[in-house]
Amino acid sequence: MSTTETSRGLFITFEGIDGSGKTTQLTRLAARLRSRGYEVVETVEPGGTRTGSMIRNILLDPAHQELSATAELLLYFAARAQNVDETIVPALKRHAIVLSDRFTDSTLVYQGYGRGLGVEVVETLDRIACRGLKPDLTLYFDIDLATARLRAKARGVDRMDDQPADFRRRVREGYLDLSRREPRFRLIDGRNEIERVGSEVWSEVQVALESIAPAGSPGHL
Ligand code: TMP
Repeated sequence: MSTTETSRGLFITFEGIDGSGKTTQLTRLAARLRSRGYEVVETVEPGGTRTGSMIRNILLDPAHQELSATAELLLYFAARAQNVDETIVPALKRHAIVLSDRFTDSTLVYQGYGRGLGVEVVETLDRIACRGLKPDLTLYFDIDLATARLRAKARGVDRMDDQPADFRRRVREGYLDLSRREPRFRLIDGRNEIERVGSEVWSEVQVALESIAPAGSPGHL
């Protein structure tokens, strides 16, 4: 377990550049787990709570071009602190499975690598906002920048999508770097078709479930 809790549910995060397909896979996994009797809590960052959603609007509105890199960093962590306290930790205490669409790894790669604020400042804020809460498993959906761009554009561009190509390149390099360094990271090829990606996700999640509970015992993670 990576929190201070001795017994809790499972915390799985979904990471990837915009257009990598992570949100689709999160929704599918949630349905699959629920159909097997698990309590699943889906959350999103920035967001996940009422106040977090308000912060999300500030962060993603393309009208807010004046937002400084430091203000942006602190707002992502403000939303996260609220999400941890209000949604994630209570769910894990009830032994639910929490699926989060992004978490601190996003801040590491977008603000730490992308904006050049560095890893250290992100890790310091993580200690304050998350107080030692780390994901048990992080599914990283890797995709080339050109394909991701096409998919993201089809969906509509927000303030964070609207960044130079260099920024997006640094973000992907950050993710690839984390995949090599972090044992909880699983790199999944996001270019494959949905069903195949879904099977890979399911295999990884089954291993994670078995590591914390006897097979076939939903609710007793
Ligand atoms: P989404 O499109 O996956 O919902 O994510 C919202 C945008 O916010 C996405 O472009 C990534 C960005 N982001 C950061 O820059 N830092 C963070 O800490 C998080 C959680 C998201």
